Amino acid sequence: MPPPVARISQISKYEGQEVELRGWLYGKRSSGKLHFLQVRDGSGVIQAVVFKNEVPTEMFARADHILQESSIVVRGTVRADKRSPLGFELGVNHVEVVHEAKDYPITPKEHGVAYLMEKRHLWLRSARQNVILRVRHTVEKAIRDFFDEDGFTLVDAPIFTPAACEGTSTLFEVPYFDLGKAYLTQSGQLYMEAAAMALGKVYCFGPTFRAEKSKTRRHLTEFWMVEPEVAFMDLEEDMTLAERFICSIVQRVLDKHEREIREVLERDTSKLQTVKPPFPRMTYGEAIERLNKAGHPSKWGDDFGGDEETVLASQFDRPVIVHRYPADLKAFYFKRDPADPRVALGMDVLAPEGFGEIIGGGQREDDFDALLGRIEEHKLPVEAFEWYLDLRKYGSVPHAGFGLGVERTVSWLCGLHHVRETIPFARMMERITP
Ligand code: 4AD
Ligand code: MG
Repeated sequence: MPPPVARISQISKYEGQEVELRGWLYGKRSSGKLHFLQVRDGSGVIQAVVFKNEVPTEMFARADHILQESSIVVRGTVRADKRSPLGFELGVNHVEVVHEAKDYPITPKEHGVAYLMEKRHLWLRSARQNVILRVRHTVEKAIRDFFDEDGFTLVDAPIFTPAACEGTSTLFEVPYFDLGKAYLTQSGQLYMEAAAMALGKVYCFGPTFRAEKSKTRRHLTEFWMVEPEVAFMDLEEDMTLAERFICSIVQRVLDKHEREIREVLERDTSKLQTVKPPFPRMTYGEAIERLNKAGHPSKWGDDFGGDEETVLASQFDRPVIVHRYPADLKAFYFKRDPADPRVALGMDVLAPEGFGEIIGGGQREDDFDALLGRIEEHKLPVEAFEWYLDLRKYGSVPHAGFGLGVERTVSWLCGLHHVRETIPFARMMERITP
């Protein structure tokens, strides 16, 4: 009877037993009577020790010539090993090559990121990228769990849309039969507003698109966003929701990945342990004062870019919320502050350590006439927004929500300089392959 097939992540359950592992050769070293094969199976890496006296002569000789990333099957006994990061190794009695990989283009030597992005389909196999993809998975699961457990209903928003949500300058156009042009969605928000009036608490979670002509470390043309929207919620409650939400994601990621983030990604995880409520909150006006005090000259009306966000966020050990931006800087749908009509009831959550804005959101205009005026001021096609205006005709209520970008969040949690490594296949101005 062949031994049971095990996954490396579950290997502790098999201590002292014989198992079969199916995977790829990650690395290898040899010393006369011993070959040390680093075997990865997608769930982890284990050292498989091939001892000359424990396998047939031919198999031992073959094991010395297996090339990096060849697919292999190994069988052997699971042994505790205190020196290995995994805590276990495999004493091999059988090795076989499924497919030989010749000249694998990513060798253990250092490659530049441009080269690695070109080979992204293979780069995903490396240890760092493995951890990042697993953290992303956990972030997405934590997002779903948070809202599902809080009484929200997941409502999928369309990808083809007839009009802009976040401003016309970043729309991707798509030809759409006899109806002319459609656009790839920039945000599901407007549809979530309709859904919130139907279901009370809703969220969408999917890809969004921005034809942003900016080649920064924080911008992708295709990124994933989660957008909750809640009826009868105001800006203050929206900020509290965002705070609870972020804390739950951070806690989940620490619970599951603290060690690999620290050891494999070499990110200082003590900087994540401090992410607890309450987050500091300040108005845009206060933020401008702080920027000036910090030696970064700014005046009312300036928009914040990466530099301003970094100066502000670096003053705190947890995310900071900036609210009530000048309405002119913000999208058409924000409600004005009744106490100061120059400002919009919007907020951004800025991640610490220079990772930038991870959340944007706020309270929506719920008055028909004010909203219609805003659509006209922004020179948006009123016909395309008639359905949206309807929501202000039939039982309009105060409501609010926000959008959190998955890639910005993962880059912060993993301590990655550029968002391109946080998504399996990045889409940027200068990249659409692989
Ligand atoms: O601030 P944004 O543009 O907000 C909205 O789209 C709202 N409609 C959301 C809502 O209220 N429902 O985008 C929200 C978040 C940003 O904070 C950022 O994390 C991410 O989406 N984001 C990007 N991530 C990667 N690349 C880009 N080009 C991004 N643009 C925004
Ligand atoms: Mg924003």
